[in-house]
Amino acid sequence: MLGELLGLTGKPVDLLACGCGTGFFSRQYARLPGVSVTGIDLDEPLLNAARELSRQEGHLIQFERGDITDLPFQDGSFDTVTSDILLEIFPDKLLPISEMVRVWSLVS
Ligand SMILES: C[S@@+](CC[C@H](N)C(=O)[O-])C[C@H]1O[C@@H](n2cnc3c(N)ncnc32)[C@H](O)[C@@H]1O
Repeated sequence: MLGELLGLTGKPVDLLACGCGTGFFSRQYARLPGVSVTGIDLDEPLLNAARELSRQEGHLIQFERGDITDLPFQDGSFDTVTSDILLEIFPDKLLPISEMVRVWSLVS
C-alpha cells in the first residue's frame, strides 16, 4: 500500500525520508522493490539507532544528519521525498515543504 500511495511502480527510485528518526518508515520503504532510501534527521543518537536497526534487518539505507529546513542536497536529487510525522511540528510549513520540493526531481 505504501508503494501505491507514493506512486511507485517498481522501477528504481531514490527516496529521501525527512525526519527519519529511528527509521521506522525508512525501513518500510527499503522493503519496496527498486527503492533506495536516504534518511535524514537532526538527532544523531536516533540516527545511530536507525543505522543499527537497519543493519540488523539487512537494509542498505543511508542515514545522514541534516535539517529539513536546509537540506544538504542539490536541487532535484531525489525521485520521491517523504516526511512522516515531522511537518506537524512546524507552525510555518512553507520552508520545510519548499526544501522538500527543491530536492524533488519532478520539479527541477
Ligand atoms: C515523530 S519523529 C518521526 C518518525 C520517523 N519518520 C520514523 O519513521 O520513525 C520526528 C523526527 O523529526 C526529527 N526532526 C525534528 N526537527 C527536524 C528538522 N528540522 N529536520 C530534520 N529532522 C527533524 C526529530 O529528531 C524526530 O526524529
